[in-house]
Amino acid sequence: MDSKLILTFFISLLHFSHSVLGLEKSLESVPDLEKLMYTSIDGYPCVRLLNLTAEIGCSNPGRAKVVAPVVRFNSVDNLTESSALLVSLSDFEGLFTRLSKDSNYAKHVAGVLVEAGSGKQLKGYSPDKLFPQSEFAPYRNQDYVWNPSGSEVMWKAYNFPIFLLSDDATLALGKVATKNENKKKSYIMDVAEFDLEMQTTKSGTHDSESCLREGTCLPLGGYSVLSALPPLNVSSSQKSKPIILAITSMDSASFFRDKSLGADSPISGLISLLAAVDALSGLSGLDDFPKQLVFISFTGEAWGYLGSRRFLFDLDQHGGGIDGLDLSMLEMVLEIGSVGRSSNHDVKTFFVHSEATSMTNKTLNALKYAQDSLKNDNIKISMANTANPGLPPSSLMTFLNKVELD
Ligand SMILES: *[C@@H]1O[C@H](CO)[C@@H](O)[C@H](O)[C@H]1NC(C)=O
Ligand SMILES: *[C@@H]1O[C@H](CO)[C@@H](O)[C@H](O)[C@H]1NC(C)=O
Ligand SMILES: *[C@@H]1O[C@H](CO)[C@@H](O)[C@H](O)[C@H]1NC(C)=O
Ligand SMILES: *[C@@H]1O[C@H](CO)[C@@H](O)[C@H](O)[C@H]1NC(C)=O
Repeated sequence: MDSKLILTFFISLLHFSHSVLGLEKSLESVPDLEKLMYTSIDGYPCVRLLNLTAEIGCSNPGRAKVVAPVVRFNSVDNLTESSALLVSLSDFEGLFTRLSKDSNYAKHVAGVLVEAGSGKQLKGYSPDKLFPQSEFAPYRNQDYVWNPSGSEVMWKAYNFPIFLLSDDATLALGKVATKNENKKKSYIMDVAEFDLEMQTTKSGTHDSESCLREGTCLPLGGYSVLSALPPLNVSSSQKSKPIILAITSMDSASFFRDKSLGADSPISGLISLLAAVDALSGLSGLDDFPKQLVFISFTGEAWGYLGSRRFLFDLDQHGGGIDGLDLSMLEMVLEIGSVGRSSNHDVKTFFVHSEATSMTNKTLNALKYAQDSLKNDNIKISMANTANPGLPPSSLMTFLNKVELD
């Protein structure tokens, strides 16, 4: 879950105010003066991300500081000077629509500060695509809309910094914006100074290969975690039993690094998997099970299925087996996706998507038993609509693609 991408940043507010001069007496050092002039504001950045050919996310033009007055997005129609826009979560999408349609407006945006707020303000907002990672789908219909609220803002490049503010910072910036509105005509303005160093890239580095070579960025993702019940015997040359592989994702992609409004979607799957492992680990006689259980939590799946692709690549490199795990014995892969929250809180229906194999019916039966054992009508398990073109975006796509290649 730990990102390996480390960012240092802060935004400071620069108070350009001649009243500072009147306080000369009490100032004994430059840090004292600085404290008077700047308020540090914390938040979560949108960062620059690179792949082999392209860049997405945010940046500072060059590496210079950005200094611009704070203006509320919904209080001005047009921007006439370079401005730092303060925008509420609910106006966030509107801002991006405007930016994409009005280049004259976009030209004057020096930076964007997004106010904190609860996700409840957002009616199904998603910065991802309508069909996230469609290029990995093992079927033709890649125009299918799996994510109806997808806005794709995450996949574009912006030449200005964007921060999601903390609660305290939202209050502070709100006051600044109000003050600026009140004294529009006066030359004293509170300005937002985006004094941030985006360590993801050195300016002028436009692809992942060169920035990794220069050592100016870090790779996305971390380590995937694998575990088995009973433990795999690394030294045994004996063929293992048929394997049931249960997988999940340990992280997600978000527009703001380390602050994801949808964080509860993949993590719900991880928690469910851990709960299952915990329950199973208390059983005796695991060695007598006819199947070998293996659990994996993948890292970086939202970024091109990094974890699962690496896993299969590593297995391939070792002739299909590592650490007592033999891919040829893989009988079934079960993925737990987002099981945390249904948009309709009254009806909890969980959908099962499957790619039919001889094992599918047995698994569906098992799920049926699971539902019956709950003795609770609030939770329903349903088969996914047969009109779907195939599986929704998931790590299973990596496995299906592998099967097709072999
Ligand atoms: C890099 O990202 C861009 C934008 O998302 C995408 O169009 C392109 O295919 C990617 N390139 C590679 C090599 O993955
Ligand atoms: C804002 O700018 C657009 C062109 O960029 C112009 O058509 C519009 O009239 C302007 N609105 C105001 C209120 O100045
Ligand atoms: C692992 O397999 C080896 C060789 O078959 C055997 O000698 C050893 O006892 C096994 N270890 C465990 C923990 O089962
Ligand atoms: C799975 O179940 C369906 C009906 O529930 C049945 O038509 C099908 O033949 C079964 N498939 C296998 C492989 O048992």
